[in-house]
Amino acid sequence: MTETPRVIAVCGSRREGSYTRSALHYALDAAAAAGAETDFLDLGDPELELPLYHPDWDAEGTGDVAAALERVRRADGVLLGSPVYHGSYSSTFRSFHDWCSFDEYEDTVVGLVATAGGGSFGSTLDHMRITIRGVHGWVHPKQVGIRNAYEKFAEREAATADGEIGAAAAHELTDGDIADRLGELGEGVAESAVRLGSSE
Ligand SMILES: Cc1cc2nc3c(=O)[nH]c(=O)nc-3n(C[C@H](O)[C@H](O)[C@H](O)COP(=O)(O)O)c2cc1C
Repeated sequence: MTETPRVIAVCGSRREGSYTRSALHYALDAAAAAGAETDFLDLGDPELELPLYHPDWDAEGTGDVAAALERVRRADGVLLGSPVYHGSYSSTFRSFHDWCSFDEYEDTVVGLVATAGGGSFGSTLDHMRITIRGVHGWVHPKQVGIRNAYEKFAEREAATADGEIGAAAAHELTDGDIADRLGELGEGVAESAVRLGSSE
């Protein structure tokens, strides 16, 4: 039985000032407050070597791929975030996802977050849900989509002053409703991971 669930956030934006990354930190903080042990895998981290998926290459021996997969595999819950790109998810999200398989997602609860510069995020969340089903993840029904993201976040000086990207939310959400929903998602993923673990 999983009493202390492990929840990892995986950010599918490489943008330095990514709103997806900040949104995921809100959800991950809520998972921690619900008792989860947390981790953050920033696919945009320049220190990480995660080459474009290649079917002839083994994860072992391909940059940091095997280590990143291991971090996802040991998690009971995954908070997955992608920017909305051309009505779908980003290539960064997809390439890492193609390295993943049942091994990473079987018996794993997944919370989805999509961040749009414009007005719609529905297809991105739908595409993420379908491809997570493909690796047997259990997608939580409380997904969060953020439209017009540029209007929903403000720079947070303390978090950006040390230049550490991914260490904390670099932006403050100015929309309380979205902050609440991200919190409910993080909490929901942590709690559902415990429930799924105890039913095994
Ligand atoms: C290649 C590309 C495609 C995009 N396509 C869309 C789109 O289809 N719809 C939309 O609302 N915004 C689109 N955007 C804007 C992004 O969704 C927006 O910049 C978002 O904040 C990116 O997330 P991030 O801040 O986490 O990087 C696109 C941006 C890029 C770079």
